[in-house]
Order: sequence, then structure tokens, then C-alpha cells
Amino acid sequence: MFPVEKFRSLPTPFYFYDVALFRRTAQAALSEAQKYGYIIHYALKANAGEKLLRLLSGMGFGADCVSGAEVQRALSCGFSPESIAFAGVGKRDDEINLGIDHRIFSFNCESEQELEVINELAKAKGAVAHVALRINPNVDAHTHAHITTGLDENKFGINLWQLLDVAKKVKQMSNLKLVCIHFHIGSQITEFSPFTELCAKVNELQGQLEQAGVTVEHVNVGGGLGVDYEHPAEHSVPEFAAYFATLNRHIKLRPGQQLHCELGRSIVAQCGSLITQCLYVKELQKKNFVVVDAGMTDLIRPALYGAYHKIENITPQRAAEKVYDVVGPICESSDTFDKDVTLPQTQRGDLMAIRTAGAYGEVMASRYNLRQLPKAFFSDEV
Ligand code: LLP
Repeated sequence: MFPVEKFRSLPTPFYFYDVALFRRTAQAALSEAQKYGYIIHYALKANAGEKLLRLLSGMGFGADCVSGAEVQRALSCGFSPESIAFAGVGKRDDEINLGIDHRIFSFNCESEQELEVINELAKAKGAVAHVALRINPNVDAHTHAHITTGLDENKFGINLWQLLDVAKKVKQMSNLKLVCIHFHIGSQITEFSPFTELCAKVNELQGQLEQAGVTVEHVNVGGGLGVDYEHPAEHSVPEFAAYFATLNRHIKLRPGQQLHCELGRSIVAQCGSLITQCLYVKELQKKNFVVVDAGMTDLIRPALYGAYHKIENITPQRAAEKVYDVVGPICESSDTFDKDVTLPQTQRGDLMAIRTAGAYGEVMASRYNLRQLPKAFFSDEV
């Protein structure tokens, strides 16, 4: 499936994106959402590559941004301002002003103080900013602690005990219009029960808000749909049909109310691989190591979250297999992509693919050790 001969002329390590799979995935997500009239704001944080963004904006996706630079990137890649949700627990004034100037769809607000600041900044411009209340629903996403966001102990959102009070205050703020309630419980969620639970919470809160005289036109349930890191080939397209059907079955929208979501990982993860080259094979008494030229600077997920990414030796194969730890060149033991991986007997110069790396891969790369940022290549261009 990989054009290995063509890879020989490219500088490793690099990200490789299968554009046909990307289109298929995005189209599948869009068609399933459209069955119910739902809107997807693609979460740029997962992958903000311009080529992929242009394809998504052209297909009709909205954007979910978490920094001024992401808002600018979304705009320059063709997303319309009224399709942009701007989230984040710490928005700077200049970033807020950018959003106000472009009349974005919504600021997803996480505290009363943030609402006051946006109100003031909008007032100074004689504008009315559209806001969503990001509500922390205290729903457990059953995912990695670092990417669980919807619990009371997390820093995100407005807690349930504050909600009615904050909602009433927003109504008094002359330069804000409350258009949406927003939720996001976490990422890489592989069971549907947390989404079901979230829907029940949304229904309950909508009831409470209505009793307090607060109604909104939009409900945004955030992102979080997981992907299959173990079997990238078998499950190359995530379960969008089941995800949207779950939302549709459990959420009770009010007449005319529009549902939004913010998928990131599920749209881009499977189409991307990190391609790296074996530099050395160290066969020691206790372990065999394959030292590759990609490191935690190129893909930090294994080091940061203990995340699993399937590793394949994609060089035309020798039959015998061996067990290796696949490690990078950085001087930290956490710079390990996986341990005890069974691979065909590997040699210096072999090309390896670290799969399911399209989301939170390239965007999280760093220049630690003054390493170059990895380049990106696309299947329809190499
Ligand atoms: N909306 C909000 C408010 C978010 O915080 C996130 C992700 C998303 C949407 C998109 O979620 P997705 O559909 O991609 O699960 N770096 C971590 C993931 C961090 C996710 C942060 N928020 C990782 O590599 O697993």
C-alpha cells in the first residue's frame, strides 16, 4: 500500500498522508452527519496541514479552533467565519479581537471572567459577539487521564453548580449573544456509552436552562470519537454511522435547534503515517533494538501518553521474524515507539511506517535537540 520505492528519494522521517483515504473518511463523516442535519466543525488541533484543511473547507466542514493562529489558518484555508467555533480555556485579548472582527460562529467560553472580557472587548468595537457556554458535564469518557476533560476536577468549562447563575448573567451582558451550549468530554473515546451519558446530561441541562428562561439555537457536543490504533488497515474509516446514530437516538433537540460536533482525530488519524528509516540494529543479550531516525520530537504520543501506534517494516520482506524495541535517537528513555514488537528481521536502511499518526502527530512535533520538523508528503503528489 505504501509507494516504498518513491519513499527512497524522500528525506526521512516524514509524514505521509493517503489523500484518497482522507477524502473517503471525511466524506463518510459528512454523509453520516448530514443524515440528521448535523454540522461538523473539524478540530484543527488534530492536524492543521493546509492541504487537508482546504479539502475539508471545500467539502463543507466548519472549523473548531483553539488559538488565534488556528482561526487565521482556518480563514486562509477557506473556512467561512460563520463556521468557526473558537474554544480554549485561556484566550488572549488579541485572539478574542480577531474572532470579534471576523464575526465567528461562537466563542466557546469557559468562565464568567472570560465572558466579561469578551463582552468588554465587543463593546469597545460596538459589536455583539456570539458565545457558547462550555459546560463541564461531569461525564467520564473512560479514556487516558491526560485527554479526559469533562470531569469536575478538570480545568475545562463551567461547572454544573455555576451554570444557571452564569447563564443568567450572560443574558445581562449587552454585547454578547448566547447562541449555543457546548460540551467536550474527552478524546479517543472508543465506547459509545460516554456519548449516551453526555446526551442524557444535555437533555437534563436543557430542561433546567429553559426553566430559568434560557434557550439556545445550537448545541455543540464537541469531539472525541476514537479510532482503532491496533488495526489501522481493517478499520481505516471510524464508526461515524454508529456515532451519529447514537447522538440522534439520545439527544432531544428543541424545535429548530441545530446540533454541532467537533471531530478531529477520527477525520485524520488513519490517513497519516510517520515514515522513518532504520539507522542501526542493536542486538544485545536481553533485548534487540531497532534505532530509527524518527524520535519523540516527530511523534510524541507514545512518550507522552504511552499511546500505541502500530509499527510496520514496509521494506520488501525477509521471512524470518524477530522481537525488537523500536526506539528513536533522542537521549531519553521515553523516546521509545514500542517495546517487544515482532517485525521481520530488520536491517539498517529499512523503511518503517508508524501508523495512525495523522492526528496529533505532525502538529505536536517539536524542535527539541534542534532537530528539523518533519516534512509532509501526500499520496497524490509523490
Ligand atoms: N473539541 C474540543 C473542545 C477539544 O478539546 C478537542 C480535543 C476536540 C474537540 C477534538 O477531539 P477529537 O475528536 O480529536 O478527539 N493530543 C491528544 C489529544 C488531545 C485532544 C484535545 N482536545 C492525543 O494525542 O491523544
